[in-house]
Amino acid sequence: MILLDGRQTSAKIKQEIAEVVSKMKQQNNRPPHLAAVLVGSDGASMTYVGAKVKACELVGFKSTLIKLPQSTTEEILLEQIEALNSNAEIDGFIVQLPLPKHIDENKILMAIDPNKDVDGFHPVNVGRLTLDLPTFISATPFGIMELLERYAIPTSGKHVVVIGRSHIVGRPMSILMSQKRKAGNATVTIAHSRTKDLKSLTQQADIVIAALGIPEFLTSDMVKDNAVIIDVGITRVPDDAKKKGYRIVGDVDFKSVSKKASHITPVPGGVGPMTIAMLLKNTLMAREKF
Ligand code: GUN
Repeated sequence: MILLDGRQTSAKIKQEIAEVVSKMKQQNNRPPHLAAVLVGSDGASMTYVGAKVKACELVGFKSTLIKLPQSTTEEILLEQIEALNSNAEIDGFIVQLPLPKHIDENKILMAIDPNKDVDGFHPVNVGRLTLDLPTFISATPFGIMELLERYAIPTSGKHVVVIGRSHIVGRPMSILMSQKRKAGNATVTIAHSRTKDLKSLTQQADIVIAALGIPEFLTSDMVKDNAVIIDVGITRVPDDAKKKGYRIVGDVDFKSVSKKASHITPVPGGVGPMTIAMLLKNTLMAREKF
């Protein structure tokens, strides 16, 4: 069994990006600049945004963190987005999700200039993805594609079962892996909560991508020998033995599934660290305007 090491791979990608940025600076060009908008003080969101800002520093990007109170109105947030859209010094920005309930998430995402939408959530960018046009691919599916590519996992003609149809992970993942591209050309089944007899599908899969958000959902009886397992889950499970009071658990029962898998992503340290590297890659693309 080979571990698909997201920490090591993301470190390598960040190093590659840092080298490009260093050359930019040598040529007196301004480095890429990422802004992040955080509304409220959700613990996980603050951790993620903090990690994104830190990663910017590491590769030599400029970053701006805009923290707004939980009570921020939709109107104020839209004004903030407009300001970022028209600020020529900002190459790309993200609005960290989830947003407070009183704000319409779709309305906010649609207000972001698609050319600055480094999360790849805007309908224009999702549309471009479905048409095989150059675009910002959202960080999690982009990170998984990069892991498959860098570990030279064969995907052409393989059967991939994606569990979960979310807009951020499952849906784009199913599109990417079916495309004519590196780590693509696969036959893709997208499974979800209404799927009948999921086990019979996952048992046929060469690659399983578990992105449903249920801790340790995928068990060893559900996968065939030598399958490639990608675990997108990151649920915080209460654990008094941990200093933080919780531990991070994936959607895969790692202990049993890893005994059968040819390759598997650990949680933590698999897909998670890749997402930040891919956000940086998108920001670099935004700076270079593709
Ligand atoms: N919340 C969880 N993941 C993400 C992400 O990739 N981007 C944004 N903006 N919010 C998130």
